[in-house]
Amino acid sequence: MSESVLQIRDLRVTFNTQLGELRAVRGVDVDVAPGEILGVVGESGSGKSVSFLAAMGLLPKSATISGSVKLDGVELIGASRKAVRSVRGKSLAMVFQDPLSALNPVHRVGDQIVEMIQSHQDMNTHDAEKKAVELLEIVGIPQPDERARQYPHEFSGGMRQRVVIAMAIANNPKVLIADEPTTALDVTVQAQILEVIQRIQQTFGTAVVLITHDLGVIARVADSVNVMYAGRNVESGSVQSIFDHPSHPYTRGLLSSLPHEGIERLQPIAGFPPNMLAPPPGCGFAPRCQLAIEACSAELPSLVPFGDLLSSCIRADDLRSGIRS
Ligand SMILES: Nc1ncnc2c1ncn2[C@@H]1O[C@H](COP(=O)(O)OP(=O)(O)O)[C@@H](O)[C@H]1O
Ligand SMILES: [Mg+2]
Repeated sequence: MSESVLQIRDLRVTFNTQLGELRAVRGVDVDVAPGEILGVVGESGSGKSVSFLAAMGLLPKSATISGSVKLDGVELIGASRKAVRSVRGKSLAMVFQDPLSALNPVHRVGDQIVEMIQSHQDMNTHDAEKKAVELLEIVGIPQPDERARQYPHEFSGGMRQRVVIAMAIANNPKVLIADEPTTALDVTVQAQILEVIQRIQQTFGTAVVLITHDLGVIARVADSVNVMYAGRNVESGSVQSIFDHPSHPYTRGLLSSLPHEGIERLQPIAGFPPNMLAPPPGCGFAPRCQLAIEACSAELPSLVPFGDLLSSCIRADDLRSGIRS
């Protein structure tokens, strides 16, 4: 296997809140190979965004972070603010659900892309303007010349997300982190944005981390997937193997809530995720799990190799062979 371009080890994030310590991320490992699309999936609150905001150095001061985040072998946790800032937007870029949050309403989009380029590269304005138009073209914006002179409010939601992606790839990042980039968009536009992300990965070999609560999105574009639950990775492997033989009850639950062969077979998983101010001592999913036995609540399980994937379920064997409690 090739070296990871982004390697995260034992990442932990705790927020100091008025109600106590909220343990948002509790020991997460991530490996992204060059040019790979890694999907990160899990219900709302499972720690997806916080994990990657930590990697980007974008968490508030109330967060205590430990562990290791290496980009091309260079450690970012504990690095100087200046060092992190020079990486952010250059080698490591992120796009969010709401494109407006990333755009300045009073500046033309072309100028915003130019600024992004010039804040990391020594390029004259004429060349940067030309590059901005090229970038708009790459992300599929028609009449990019004219569009570069317009303001964010003159774009539709989908076109704005394309602009934000153009900004994110302006400095040819090694890794693009896309956090629910299609969640706010309607279905046809969602598909177009996923195509843009795939095209970028194919054209430039950019590695992509695609964060989503939707396994359907993962199935379409990702190569491999980390399934997160209650601040942990509970299962990880290639998309193919996880869809063919999911080896964690939570992943199974997510899969059975997907529309299946044209039939809306929506079966949401019963119950709620744990309160991260006081997470259960063992497997976070045990309180909702039909397969749970006493041992599941005894200690926090780790990911262990199971066939061609990694699962943290101590009953993964029984799950695969179809044995119930
Ligand atoms: N700035 C913050 N302060 C306190 N708690 C936070 C903050 N940001 C996120 N959290 C909490 O951290 C947990 C993980 O959140 P998040 O990573 O945003 O989940 P998601 O998987 O939906 O992206 C949640 O319990 C959330 O409420
Ligand atoms: Mg999120």
